[in-house]
Amino acid sequence: MPIIAPSLLSADFLNLQADCTMLNESEADWFHLDVMDGRFVPNISFGLPVIAHIRNATKKVCDVHLMIEEPEKFAEAFKQAGADILTVHLEACRHLHRNVQQIKQLGMKAGIAVNPHTPIDLLEDIIMDTDLVCLMSVNPGFGGQQFIPQTLKKIRQLKSMILEKNAATLIEIDGGVTLDNAPEIIAAGADILVAGNTVFRSTNPVETIAALKRIGI
Ligand code: DX5
Ligand code: ZN
Repeated sequence: MPIIAPSLLSADFLNLQADCTMLNESEADWFHLDVMDGRFVPNISFGLPVIAHIRNATKKVCDVHLMIEEPEKFAEAFKQAGADILTVHLEACRHLHRNVQQIKQLGMKAGIAVNPHTPIDLLEDIIMDTDLVCLMSVNPGFGGQQFIPQTLKKIRQLKSMILEKNAATLIEIDGGVTLDNAPEIIAAGADILVAGNTVFRSTNPVETIAALKRIGI
């Protein structure tokens, strides 16, 4: 069964408590928390204090996706705020290996996110050190965009790299995931589905999460 990680970017920011309660009572596995700095991506979302409050509202895994420049400056602060998984963008890190080690030394799982244009080959020498690869299936910065079909090929490529090296790395797909395209995403080899609009804009988010969870059974 896939791991389901609803993205709170599409939640009701005036009533996060209600959405946290809904997710806690649902089959959602992780809370996906998107942090944007207005530099790495052309948008600004939320940051440390919001994540610290969400941390207090759930026992589920807090999966923090940093879409920021120089993420190494903030890794410790996100640990303090309660991140369990900290994902940095390959394109934002000059010293990616060092950044991944830093995250793990702080006691978090380390994720690497890659933009749609970034080739999978660039992960070859870091995959063994990485707990999770977040393949962006839209250009990062906004919820509610269309899934880029090319991602399916990248999932298959990444899956064979992981199998070849016998790595324990999980594959997360982020952007434009729907109930329609989720089966082929899972069939291609994904382990984790991030879903923002598909969950929070649906008439029954709890049922939508349950339907995503059942995909591939
Ligand atoms: C995009 C974010 C995503 C976003 C996904 O930059 O990283 O996590 O919230 O939203 P949907 O599922 O609506 O594409
Ligand atoms: Zn994300």
